[in-house]
Amino acid sequence: MHGEAPVGVVGTGYVGLVSAVCFAHLGHHVVSMDVDAAKIAALREGRAPIYEPGLEKLLEDNAARITFTTSHDDLASCRILFVAVDTPPSPSGDADLTSVRRVVAEIAARGGDRIVVMKSTVPVGTGRSVVADLRAQGAGGVRYVSNPEFLREGAAIQDFLEPDRIVVGAFDEADGEAVADLYRGIDAEVIHTSVPTAEMIKYASNAFLATKISFINEIANVCEQVGADVRVVAEGMGLDHRIGPHFLHAGIGYGGSCFPKDVQALKQLAGNSGYHFQLLNAVIEVNALQKRRVVGKLKQHLRRLRGARIALLGLTFKPNTDDLREAASIVLAARLRDEGAEVRAYDPMIESSEHPLFPGVTICPDAAAALDGADAAVLVTEWSEFGRLDWAAAAATMRRPLLVDGRNFIDPAVARAAGLEYEGIGLGDGLSDLD
Ligand code: UGA
Repeated sequence: MHGEAPVGVVGTGYVGLVSAVCFAHLGHHVVSMDVDAAKIAALREGRAPIYEPGLEKLLEDNAARITFTTSHDDLASCRILFVAVDTPPSPSGDADLTSVRRVVAEIAARGGDRIVVMKSTVPVGTGRSVVADLRAQGAGGVRYVSNPEFLREGAAIQDFLEPDRIVVGAFDEADGEAVADLYRGIDAEVIHTSVPTAEMIKYASNAFLATKISFINEIANVCEQVGADVRVVAEGMGLDHRIGPHFLHAGIGYGGSCFPKDVQALKQLAGNSGYHFQLLNAVIEVNALQKRRVVGKLKQHLRRLRGARIALLGLTFKPNTDDLREAASIVLAARLRDEGAEVRAYDPMIESSEHPLFPGVTICPDAAAALDGADAAVLVTEWSEFGRLDWAAAAATMRRPLLVDGRNFIDPAVARAAGLEYEGIGLGDGLSDLD
């Protein structure tokens, strides 16, 4: 592909950086741009500013094909420019498009004949309004394609290179083809569609996955009332190919930078267009309550939380990431502190003993230190090292060997054999079908 114009990628967050590195891996020359000089400086030295498995290796292998810059001017030779900047929730719950608009304005100011490809998750209708802005700014040669991302943090490279589908929404067929062509070499179905449809596929996918999680969490809560085991219920449901086995893992709810924000944004989007999306209200509420149920479980066992020492195992919103955005641990730690508990935590990705998101919480260097003298432990994030922990040794150091497993990660039989009192999510009367 030597000789083709380089691909530009604006933004070096999880999506932008993974896309840039993977496009380079596919053989393209890539210009990766970010306004954050510290991130670009790190990348120029071959260091990824985020943790994503396999990323630094791929960065190293493809270093010759990627250049990093803080200047929009260096994107001049790119005919296709991906926008992968953040769209955080605004106070109203709508997606905040400030960064997206700033980038589009920079591109418009430089004009030329190029395609802007939106990878950031933007509300349905954004493509149309960006195109209108581009025309108004006299940058009619800059065209627009929507190419939403479906990357999971922690598995982003695999998801990029082996996707379930590639969605390309375009106003002009040739522009859509040009973007789809960049993915040559990837074996996946490409859905060519209109821009609003592509934008909606992204929101609908995330909202549906979040709905699946809230659904199984409610089933788990009922299982606790009636003595059924949600793990086996999920397995039995998942074998029906119309349902599928994925995203039926009950726990303390979904977090992260995507589901909470996107579900909220779709609800707002519907509301703004005059439709009351009732189901999503329930999905959001169930997710919020699910975190608090853990506090209820601790109270049931310990009676009072005031003065109790609680160990939180795992703080990131899921394993294999350093991302704390919308992590259940933040709400949980704050609630426990409000109840007067002493909170000690451990996460393999957090090294300092204090963290601004966890005021008053002591962050320990390892799980053993967090568990030492604890009245209870809550497994918040299913990091694999917790599966390998010597639970018998840990139980012996706890003041009360109670484990509330917020992810149903530890086998209850193993936990009990190690001398722990064990409580999971939705495991009925505790006499698990799987024990
Ligand atoms: C999610 C989607 O899975 C990606 O397809 C999408 O591209 C991305 O959002 C995005 O919009 O950028 P991600 O947020 O990285 O990816 O994480 P997931 O692996 O989907 O997990 C989200 C949350 O759901 C986590 O807190 C996880 O613990 C929770 N979860 C997931 C459950 O509680 N149960 C499950 O069965 C699955």
